[in-house]
Amino acid sequence: MRAMKIEELITPAFIVDLLKLKTNINHMQARAGTHGVHLRPHVKTHKTAEIARMQAPTDDAGITVSTLAEARFFRQAGFDDITYAFPITPNKLAAAADLTKQMTHFQILVDQPQTAAAIETFGKTNGVRFSAFLKVDCGYHRAGVDPTTAESVQLVEQIKSSKHIQFKGILTHAGHSYHCRNREDIIAVARQERDVMVKFAARLKQQGIECETVSVGSTPTAVHAPDWQGISEIRPGNYAFFDKFQADVGACTLEQAAATVLTTVVAHYPQHNQMLIDAGALALSKDPGAIHLDEEIIYGAVLGYPFLKIFSISQEHGLITSEAPIVFDNFPVGSLLQIIPNHACLTAALFPKYHVVEKNRVVDEWLPMRGW
Ligand SMILES: Cc1ncc(COP(=O)(O)O)c(C=O)c1O
Repeated sequence: MRAMKIEELITPAFIVDLLKLKTNINHMQARAGTHGVHLRPHVKTHKTAEIARMQAPTDDAGITVSTLAEARFFRQAGFDDITYAFPITPNKLAAAADLTKQMTHFQILVDQPQTAAAIETFGKTNGVRFSAFLKVDCGYHRAGVDPTTAESVQLVEQIKSSKHIQFKGILTHAGHSYHCRNREDIIAVARQERDVMVKFAARLKQQGIECETVSVGSTPTAVHAPDWQGISEIRPGNYAFFDKFQADVGACTLEQAAATVLTTVVAHYPQHNQMLIDAGALALSKDPGAIHLDEEIIYGAVLGYPFLKIFSISQEHGLITSEAPIVFDNFPVGSLLQIIPNHACLTAALFPKYHVVEKNRVVDEWLPMRGW
Protein backbone atom coordinates (compact mmCIF):
# COMPACT_ATOMS: atom_id res chain seq x y z
CA MET A 1 0.00 0.00 0.00
CA ARG A 2 1.28 3.50 -0.91
CA ALA A 3 1.77 5.49 2.30
CA MET A 4 -0.70 8.39 2.18
CA LYS A 5 -1.13 11.49 4.23
CA ILE A 6 -4.18 11.52 6.47
CA GLU A 7 -5.41 14.55 4.45
CA GLU A 8 -5.76 12.35 1.36
CA LEU A 9 -8.44 10.16 2.92
CA ILE A 10 -12.06 10.50 1.85
CA THR A 11 -14.22 11.35 4.86
CA PRO A 12 -15.80 10.13 6.99
CA ALA A 13 -12.99 7.66 7.65
CA PHE A 14 -12.15 5.46 10.64
CA ILE A 15 -8.62 6.06 11.86
CA VAL A 16 -6.59 3.86 14.18
CA ASP A 17 -3.54 5.44 15.80
CA LEU A 18 -1.07 2.53 15.78
CA LEU A 19 1.14 3.81 18.58
CA LYS A 20 -1.78 4.45 20.94
CA LEU A 21 -3.33 1.10 20.07
CA LYS A 22 -0.10 -0.77 20.83
CA THR A 23 0.39 1.18 24.06
CA ASN A 24 -3.15 0.33 25.24
CA ILE A 25 -2.67 -3.34 24.37
CA ASN A 26 0.76 -3.58 26.02
CA HIS A 27 -0.49 -1.86 29.14
CA MET A 28 -3.34 -4.34 29.65
CA GLN A 29 -1.01 -7.28 28.93
CA ALA A 30 1.40 -5.95 31.55
CA ARG A 31 -1.42 -5.55 34.10
CA ALA A 32 -2.61 -9.10 33.55
CA GLY A 33 0.97 -10.37 33.85
CA THR A 34 1.62 -8.45 37.06
CA HIS A 35 -1.56 -9.78 38.66
CA GLY A 36 -1.16 -13.35 37.41
CA VAL A 37 -4.44 -13.57 35.48
CA HIS A 38 -5.00 -14.83 31.96
CA LEU A 39 -6.02 -12.05 29.55
CA ARG A 40 -8.67 -13.25 27.08
CA PRO A 41 -9.40 -10.01 25.17
CA HIS A 42 -12.89 -9.38 23.81
CA VAL A 43 -12.32 -8.74 20.11
CA LYS A 44 -15.82 -7.47 19.31
CA THR A 45 -14.47 -3.92 19.80
CA HIS A 46 -12.54 -4.04 16.52
CA LYS A 47 -13.36 -7.40 14.87
CA THR A 48 -10.03 -7.50 13.02
CA ALA A 49 -7.52 -10.34 12.86
CA GLU A 50 -4.68 -7.80 12.93
CA ILE A 51 -5.57 -6.29 16.30
CA ALA A 52 -6.57 -9.66 17.76
CA ARG A 53 -3.09 -10.92 16.86
CA MET A 54 -1.49 -8.06 18.79
CA GLN A 55 -3.68 -8.91 21.79
CA ALA A 56 -3.34 -12.69 21.55
CA PRO A 57 -0.11 -13.44 19.68
CA THR A 58 -0.42 -17.24 19.58
CA ASP A 59 -3.28 -19.42 18.28
CA ASP A 60 -3.91 -20.86 21.72
CA ALA A 61 -3.73 -17.56 23.65
CA GLY A 62 -7.52 -17.30 23.84
CA ILE A 63 -9.94 -14.59 22.74
CA THR A 64 -13.57 -13.66 23.45
CA VAL A 65 -16.20 -13.01 20.77
CA SER A 66 -19.81 -11.87 20.84
CA THR A 67 -21.32 -13.64 17.80
CA LEU A 68 -20.90 -16.98 16.07
CA ALA A 69 -19.97 -15.16 12.86
CA GLU A 70 -17.07 -13.57 14.75
CA ALA A 71 -16.10 -16.99 16.08
CA ARG A 72 -15.99 -18.38 12.51
CA PHE A 73 -13.97 -15.39 11.26
CA PHE A 74 -11.36 -15.67 14.02
CA ARG A 75 -11.26 -19.47 13.65
CA GLN A 76 -10.40 -18.90 9.96
CA ALA A 77 -7.67 -16.49 11.08
CA GLY A 78 -6.10 -19.32 13.11
CA PHE A 79 -7.38 -18.70 16.64
CA ASP A 80 -7.96 -22.01 18.35
CA ASP A 81 -9.35 -21.04 21.76
CA ILE A 82 -12.47 -18.89 21.61
CA THR A 83 -15.16 -18.10 24.17
CA TYR A 84 -18.48 -17.05 22.64
CA ALA A 85 -19.53 -14.75 25.48
CA PHE A 86 -23.22 -14.38 24.79
CA PRO A 87 -25.74 -16.89 26.19
CA ILE A 88 -26.33 -19.59 23.57
CA THR A 89 -29.82 -20.21 22.15
CA PRO A 90 -31.09 -23.59 20.95
CA ASN A 91 -31.26 -22.39 17.31
CA LYS A 92 -27.51 -21.69 17.35
CA LEU A 93 -26.44 -25.10 18.62
CA ALA A 94 -25.72 -26.58 15.18
CA ALA A 95 -23.34 -23.71 14.38
CA ALA A 96 -21.77 -23.95 17.84
CA ALA A 97 -21.33 -27.71 17.34
CA ASP A 98 -19.42 -27.10 14.08
CA LEU A 99 -17.06 -24.74 15.88
CA THR A 100 -16.68 -27.18 18.79
CA LYS A 101 -15.60 -29.90 16.34
CA GLN A 102 -13.20 -27.61 14.45
CA MET A 103 -11.38 -26.14 17.43
CA THR A 104 -9.29 -27.31 20.36
CA HIS A 105 -11.20 -25.02 22.71
CA PHE A 106 -14.56 -23.41 22.01
CA GLN A 107 -16.67 -22.31 24.96
CA ILE A 108 -20.33 -21.29 25.09
CA LEU A 109 -22.39 -19.64 27.86
CA VAL A 110 -25.51 -20.89 29.61
CA ASP A 111 -27.76 -19.30 32.21
CA GLN A 112 -31.11 -21.08 31.65
CA PRO A 113 -32.04 -24.66 32.64
CA GLN A 114 -34.10 -24.97 29.41
CA THR A 115 -31.03 -24.11 27.34
CA ALA A 116 -28.88 -26.59 29.28
CA ALA A 117 -31.52 -29.23 28.53
CA ALA A 118 -31.51 -28.28 24.83
CA ILE A 119 -27.71 -28.58 24.74
CA GLU A 120 -27.91 -32.02 26.37
CA THR A 121 -30.51 -33.19 23.82
CA PHE A 122 -28.59 -31.75 20.86
CA GLY A 123 -25.30 -33.22 22.10
CA LYS A 124 -26.86 -36.66 22.56
CA THR A 125 -28.55 -36.66 19.14
CA ASN A 126 -25.51 -35.36 17.28
CA GLY A 127 -22.65 -36.86 19.26
CA VAL A 128 -21.17 -33.53 20.39
CA ARG A 129 -19.66 -32.52 23.72
CA PHE A 130 -19.87 -28.77 24.28
CA SER A 131 -17.75 -26.78 26.73
CA ALA A 132 -19.81 -24.30 28.72
CA PHE A 133 -19.51 -21.55 31.28
CA LEU A 134 -22.29 -20.61 33.64
CA LYS A 135 -23.03 -16.93 33.05
CA VAL A 136 -23.28 -15.11 36.38
CA ASP A 137 -24.89 -11.75 37.18
CA CYS A 138 -22.47 -9.89 39.47
CA GLY A 139 -24.64 -6.77 39.73
CA TYR A 140 -25.17 -5.49 36.18
CA HIS A 141 -28.55 -7.26 35.85
CA ARG A 142 -28.28 -7.74 32.08
CA ALA A 143 -27.76 -11.49 31.87
CA GLY A 144 -26.71 -14.37 34.09
CA VAL A 145 -27.89 -16.28 37.12
CA ASP A 146 -28.20 -14.73 40.56
CA PRO A 147 -25.32 -16.49 42.36
CA THR A 148 -27.01 -16.21 45.76
CA THR A 149 -29.90 -18.48 44.79
CA ALA A 150 -30.30 -22.25 45.10
CA GLU A 151 -31.25 -22.33 41.39
CA SER A 152 -27.78 -21.14 40.35
CA VAL A 153 -26.13 -24.15 42.01
CA GLN A 154 -28.84 -26.46 40.66
CA LEU A 155 -28.08 -25.25 37.14
CA VAL A 156 -24.38 -26.04 37.59
CA GLU A 157 -25.36 -29.50 38.88
CA GLN A 158 -27.56 -29.96 35.80
CA ILE A 159 -24.64 -28.99 33.53
CA LYS A 160 -22.22 -31.23 35.45
CA SER A 161 -24.56 -34.19 35.18
CA SER A 162 -24.66 -33.98 31.37
CA LYS A 163 -22.36 -36.22 29.35
CA HIS A 164 -22.58 -33.70 26.54
CA ILE A 165 -21.43 -30.61 28.41
CA GLN A 166 -18.04 -30.04 29.95
CA PHE A 167 -18.37 -27.48 32.76
CA LYS A 168 -15.60 -24.88 32.30
CA GLY A 169 -16.41 -22.59 35.19
CA ILE A 170 -18.17 -19.30 35.86
CA LEU A 171 -18.10 -16.05 33.87
CA THR A 172 -19.38 -12.54 34.50
CA HIS A 173 -19.25 -9.06 32.96
CA ALA A 174 -19.42 -6.06 35.29
CA GLY A 175 -21.18 -3.76 32.81
CA HIS A 176 -22.40 -1.63 35.71
CA SER A 177 -18.86 -0.22 35.85
CA TYR A 178 -20.15 2.00 33.03
CA HIS A 179 -22.48 3.68 35.52
CA CYS A 180 -19.49 4.86 37.59
CA ARG A 181 -18.43 8.47 38.06
CA ASN A 182 -14.70 8.10 38.76
CA ARG A 183 -11.80 5.75 39.54
CA GLU A 184 -12.92 5.13 43.14
CA ASP A 185 -16.38 4.04 41.99
CA ILE A 186 -14.81 1.71 39.42
CA ILE A 187 -12.53 0.17 42.05
CA ALA A 188 -15.60 -0.55 44.19
CA VAL A 189 -17.33 -2.31 41.26
CA ALA A 190 -14.12 -4.27 40.50
CA ARG A 191 -14.02 -5.48 44.10
CA GLN A 192 -17.68 -6.45 43.94
CA GLU A 193 -17.16 -8.29 40.62
CA ARG A 194 -14.25 -10.22 42.17
CA ASP A 195 -15.96 -10.93 45.50
CA VAL A 196 -19.24 -12.16 43.98
CA MET A 197 -17.35 -14.59 41.76
CA VAL A 198 -14.89 -15.80 44.40
CA LYS A 199 -17.74 -16.39 46.85
CA PHE A 200 -19.79 -18.30 44.29
CA ALA A 201 -16.80 -20.45 43.29
CA ALA A 202 -16.31 -21.27 47.00
CA ARG A 203 -20.00 -22.17 47.34
CA LEU A 204 -19.74 -24.52 44.38
CA LYS A 205 -16.59 -26.06 45.85
CA GLN A 206 -18.53 -26.84 49.03
CA GLN A 207 -20.86 -28.85 46.78
CA GLY A 208 -17.85 -30.67 45.34
CA ILE A 209 -17.83 -28.67 42.09
CA GLU A 210 -14.51 -27.20 40.90
CA CYS A 211 -14.40 -24.18 38.59
CA GLU A 212 -11.52 -24.60 36.16
CA THR A 213 -11.89 -20.94 35.18
CA VAL A 214 -13.34 -17.94 37.02
CA SER A 215 -13.68 -15.24 34.37
CA VAL A 216 -14.47 -11.53 34.85
CA GLY A 217 -14.01 -8.44 32.82
CA SER A 218 -15.07 -5.07 31.59
CA THR A 219 -12.65 -2.36 30.51
CA PRO A 220 -13.23 0.01 33.46
CA THR A 221 -12.77 -2.75 36.05
CA ALA A 222 -9.82 -4.27 34.16
CA VAL A 223 -8.10 -0.87 34.17
CA HIS A 224 -8.58 -0.15 37.87
CA ALA A 225 -9.07 -3.46 39.74
CA PRO A 226 -6.64 -3.38 42.69
CA ASP A 227 -6.18 -7.17 42.50
CA TRP A 228 -7.77 -10.34 41.10
CA GLN A 229 -7.27 -12.76 43.99
CA GLY A 230 -9.29 -15.90 43.24
CA ILE A 231 -9.92 -14.88 39.61
CA SER A 232 -8.21 -16.74 36.78
CA GLU A 233 -9.18 -14.77 33.67
CA ILE A 234 -10.09 -11.22 32.57
CA ARG A 235 -11.91 -10.29 29.33
CA PRO A 236 -11.76 -6.55 28.63
CA GLY A 237 -12.23 -5.44 25.01
CA ASN A 238 -12.78 -1.73 24.65
CA TYR A 239 -9.34 -0.94 26.16
CA ALA A 240 -7.70 -1.48 22.76
CA PHE A 241 -9.33 1.71 21.48
CA PHE A 242 -10.79 3.43 24.55
CA ASP A 243 -13.25 6.28 23.81
CA LYS A 244 -14.97 9.34 25.25
CA PHE A 245 -17.22 7.26 27.52
CA GLN A 246 -14.23 5.54 29.10
CA ALA A 247 -12.53 8.92 29.60
CA ASP A 248 -15.69 10.40 31.14
CA VAL A 249 -16.05 7.60 33.71
CA GLY A 250 -12.34 7.75 34.58
CA ALA A 251 -11.06 4.59 32.86
CA CYS A 252 -8.63 6.48 30.58
CA THR A 253 -7.74 9.93 29.34
CA LEU A 254 -8.97 11.30 26.00
CA GLU A 255 -5.34 11.28 24.84
CA GLN A 256 -5.28 7.47 25.13
CA ALA A 257 -8.15 7.04 22.65
CA ALA A 258 -6.69 5.17 19.67
CA ALA A 259 -9.70 5.33 17.34
CA THR A 260 -11.13 8.48 15.79
CA VAL A 261 -13.43 9.41 12.95
CA LEU A 262 -11.91 11.79 10.42
CA THR A 263 -14.50 14.26 9.16
CA THR A 264 -14.60 17.33 6.90
CA VAL A 265 -16.04 20.73 7.76
CA VAL A 266 -18.76 21.04 5.12
CA ALA A 267 -20.34 24.44 5.84
CA HIS A 268 -20.43 27.42 8.21
CA TYR A 269 -23.68 28.87 9.58
CA PRO A 270 -22.61 31.88 11.68
CA GLN A 271 -26.22 32.97 12.15
CA HIS A 272 -26.73 29.81 14.26
CA ASN A 273 -23.11 29.54 15.50
CA GLN A 274 -22.97 26.14 13.79
CA MET A 275 -20.75 24.13 11.48
CA LEU A 276 -21.83 21.14 9.44
CA ILE A 277 -19.56 18.06 9.28
CA ASP A 278 -19.88 14.91 7.16
CA ALA A 279 -20.01 12.58 10.18
CA GLY A 280 -23.54 11.77 11.30
CA ALA A 281 -25.07 8.79 13.02
CA LEU A 282 -23.77 6.38 10.37
CA ALA A 283 -20.22 7.48 11.09
CA LEU A 284 -20.32 8.05 14.84
CA SER A 285 -23.27 5.93 16.04
CA LYS A 286 -25.99 7.51 18.11
CA ASP A 287 -24.61 6.40 21.45
CA PRO A 288 -25.42 9.31 23.80
CA GLY A 289 -22.31 8.78 25.95
CA ALA A 290 -22.09 9.03 29.73
CA ILE A 291 -25.36 10.89 30.29
CA HIS A 292 -25.42 9.81 33.93
CA LEU A 293 -22.61 12.36 34.37
CA ASP A 294 -23.99 15.13 32.17
CA GLU A 295 -27.49 15.21 30.70
CA GLU A 296 -26.34 17.22 27.71
CA ILE A 297 -25.84 14.81 24.82
CA ILE A 298 -22.61 15.36 22.88
CA TYR A 299 -21.85 12.86 20.12
CA GLY A 300 -18.10 12.57 20.65
CA ALA A 301 -15.12 14.78 21.48
CA VAL A 302 -13.49 16.91 18.79
CA LEU A 303 -9.79 16.13 19.14
CA GLY A 304 -7.84 19.23 20.14
CA TYR A 305 -10.94 21.44 20.43
CA PRO A 306 -12.71 20.60 23.71
CA PHE A 307 -14.98 23.65 23.37
CA LEU A 308 -16.61 22.33 20.18
CA LYS A 309 -19.79 20.31 20.75
CA ILE A 310 -21.34 17.87 18.29
CA PHE A 311 -24.85 18.56 19.52
CA SER A 312 -26.98 17.09 16.72
CA ILE A 313 -26.60 14.23 14.29
CA SER A 314 -28.84 12.73 11.65
CA GLN A 315 -27.98 9.96 9.23
CA GLU A 316 -25.05 11.66 7.44
CA HIS A 317 -25.10 15.17 8.92
CA GLY A 318 -23.35 16.24 12.10
CA LEU A 319 -23.73 19.71 13.61
CA ILE A 320 -21.15 21.41 15.78
CA THR A 321 -21.67 24.43 18.00
CA SER A 322 -19.89 26.07 20.92
CA GLU A 323 -20.81 28.10 24.03
CA ALA A 324 -18.72 31.00 22.71
CA PRO A 325 -18.98 32.26 19.12
CA ILE A 326 -17.03 29.90 16.83
CA VAL A 327 -14.03 31.51 15.14
CA PHE A 328 -14.95 30.10 11.74
CA ASP A 329 -11.65 31.14 10.16
CA ASN A 330 -9.95 28.54 12.35
CA PHE A 331 -12.10 25.79 10.76
CA PRO A 332 -12.19 26.55 7.03
CA VAL A 333 -14.70 24.75 4.84
CA GLY A 334 -12.88 21.63 3.62
CA SER A 335 -10.65 21.37 6.69
CA LEU A 336 -10.48 18.16 8.70
CA LEU A 337 -11.43 17.32 12.28
CA GLN A 338 -10.96 14.11 14.25
CA ILE A 339 -13.75 12.92 16.51
CA ILE A 340 -13.17 10.61 19.47
CA PRO A 341 -16.38 8.56 19.51
CA ASN A 342 -18.57 8.12 22.55
CA HIS A 343 -18.51 4.34 22.13
CA ALA A 344 -15.67 3.10 19.93
CA CYS A 345 -17.11 -0.44 19.55
CA LEU A 346 -20.34 0.85 17.98
CA THR A 347 -18.55 3.45 15.86
CA ALA A 348 -15.99 0.95 14.54
CA ALA A 349 -18.84 -1.38 13.56
CA LEU A 350 -20.09 1.24 11.07
CA PHE A 351 -16.94 1.16 8.91
CA PRO A 352 -15.91 -1.49 6.35
CA LYS A 353 -12.25 -0.42 6.55
CA TYR A 354 -9.89 0.98 9.20
CA HIS A 355 -7.05 3.32 8.18
CA VAL A 356 -3.99 2.69 10.31
CA VAL A 357 -2.04 5.85 11.04
CA GLU A 358 1.47 6.47 12.31
CA LYS A 359 2.66 10.09 12.72
CA ASN A 360 -0.08 11.42 10.44
CA ARG A 361 0.69 8.95 7.66
CA VAL A 362 -1.64 6.14 6.67
CA VAL A 363 0.56 3.04 6.86
CA ASP A 364 -1.99 0.24 6.52
CA GLU A 365 -5.63 -0.70 5.98
CA TRP A 366 -7.43 -3.36 8.01
CA LEU A 367 -10.68 -5.02 7.03
CA PRO A 368 -12.90 -5.92 10.00
CA MET A 369 -15.36 -8.80 9.78
CA ARG A 370 -18.98 -7.78 9.38
CA GLY A 371 -22.36 -9.49 9.57
CA TRP A 372 -23.95 -12.06 11.80
C1 LIG B 1 -19.65 -10.82 28.24
C2 LIG B 1 -18.71 -9.70 28.00
N1 LIG B 1 -17.43 -9.84 28.34
C3 LIG B 1 -16.53 -8.84 28.17
C4 LIG B 1 -16.91 -7.64 27.62
C5 LIG B 1 -15.88 -6.57 27.41
O1 LIG B 1 -16.13 -5.42 28.17
P1 LIG B 1 -15.68 -3.97 27.71
O2 LIG B 1 -16.47 -3.64 26.49
O3 LIG B 1 -15.99 -3.09 28.86
O4 LIG B 1 -14.23 -4.03 27.41
C6 LIG B 1 -18.25 -7.45 27.24
C7 LIG B 1 -18.71 -6.17 26.69
O5 LIG B 1 -19.89 -5.90 26.57
C8 LIG B 1 -19.18 -8.50 27.44
O6 LIG B 1 -20.46 -8.39 27.08
